[in-house]
Amino acid sequence: MVQQSGYRFSQKIMLDQLGHVMKHVRVKLALAALCAVAAGLALGDAALAASADNGKTAFVKHGCWQCHGFEGQGSVATSGGMVIADTPLPFEAFKAYVRNPAGAMPPFHAEILSDSDLADIYAYLESRPKPQPAKDIPLLNNLSTK
Ligand code: HEC
Repeated sequence: MVQQSGYRFSQKIMLDQLGHVMKHVRVKLALAALCAVAAGLALGDAALAASADNGKTAFVKHGCWQCHGFEGQGSVATSGGMVIADTPLPFEAFKAYVRNPAGAMPPFHAEILSDSDLADIYAYLESRPKPQPAKDIPLLNNLSTK
């Protein structure tokens, strides 16, 4: 009997401790959930903050149009035929390229082109329609079949 009550006693202590631990776990989970919500809001804000309208202005102000055309359509002469309208690049890769280009393009450092202007430029380019395939443009088709 003595042993059993001792067992019950230690069992009760264990349950108490477990309850205590669970309370902490619950608090920590609640904190983690709050942090996740806060981070989500912060990211959402950054994404919402990017404006295609501001991006169009920044695209002109920083002279991207001179080589890439006003719609990012590019030209063989000035962008090596590269189209940056509706770029498939993810933002981080886009940003890395503009900050540190590999070819003929001049670099645009953060001192002259802010991250937020660059995010707006990206939003502007993403809002441009995809170029039509040449086969869907009747005039070009007529030319190529004659
Ligand atoms: C003096 C001409 C010039 C200017 C100005 C210029 N670019 Fe470029 N850009 C190029 C050329 C040429 C390429 C093709 C690769 C290379 O030679 O760097 C290119 C490539 C790029 C690419 C890579 C596309 C890909 O899919 O790999 C991006 C993105 C880009 N430009 C964005 C911009 C933005 C944004 C601006 C304005 C802030 C800008 N460029 C201004 C000439 C220019």
